[in-house]
Amino acid sequence: MKDILTAPFVREMCETTANMYRLGWDERNGGNISYLLHEDEVKEYLDTDKVLRTIPLMGVNAEDFDITPLEGKYFIVTGTGKYFKNVEKDPETNLGIVRIAKGGKNIELLWGYKDGGRPTSEFPAHMMSHMARLKVDPENRVVMHCHPTNTLAMNFVHELDEKKFTHTLWEMCTECIVVFPEGVGILPWMLCGTNSIGEATAKKMADFRLVVWAMHGIYGAGKTLDETFGLIETVEKAAQIYMLICNRPRVNTIKDEDMLKLVELFGVKYRKDFLDL
Ligand code: 13P
Ligand code: ZN
Repeated sequence: MKDILTAPFVREMCETTANMYRLGWDERNGGNISYLLHEDEVKEYLDTDKVLRTIPLMGVNAEDFDITPLEGKYFIVTGTGKYFKNVEKDPETNLGIVRIAKGGKNIELLWGYKDGGRPTSEFPAHMMSHMARLKVDPENRVVMHCHPTNTLAMNFVHELDEKKFTHTLWEMCTECIVVFPEGVGILPWMLCGTNSIGEATAKKMADFRLVVWAMHGIYGAGKTLDETFGLIETVEKAAQIYMLICNRPRVNTIKDEDMLKLVELFGVKYRKDFLDL
């Protein structure tokens, strides 16, 4: 059996959480990541018959939270209350590798949460988002949540309308419309850690890989940690430019006709109704 601390998925989780912390997206225990692993890659490092603990999905109403489609699936997940700042120096305490148990009401811990911890309190939203994204893209593996500063700041001063918010982001950097051509979904402020926000996020995830939780943060989904990180990074960059210019007169802008040229050149399917042509 190979050393789990050398596994690419553990290394990548360490690098990604460190980068997110460094960028100021994950103060204190802010943010969480879940990353779907293939059984074969887990088996190179862990005896999957050896369950360390069975953890009930606490805080989740058994009737309306059904993750049976994910039964038997493996995830590496950040722990609740854990600081992204600390993942790299102690992955075994701050991360866990879990399997969704038969019946979809418990999770089986195979590695990590060494201090008795458990997965993120946003586990319902993560699992529901995985289910929603897998329906659209069978290769989706990552769900990532964080609190990027400028994206959040923009929530307080910009209308929280999906078309208007997306359009403003697209206008801020030439490549935005190519990176997230489907736009950004937005949920109003809702109580986090609940089934309701999980369900609402998953519903948006049918159309968007990026969902803003108003005045809280953002959810991203993608095939890899890099892709998902890059999506959020691009939104955050656009939001930063918006926050730098929003209280100054706008002299120039990227026009909708220019954005059309971009999507045509890169051949991407975009939200036509988010442009005014
Ligand atoms: P956790 O520490 O439970 O992952 O929660 C952090 C967070 O960002 C909640 O939205
Ligand atoms: Zn949060």
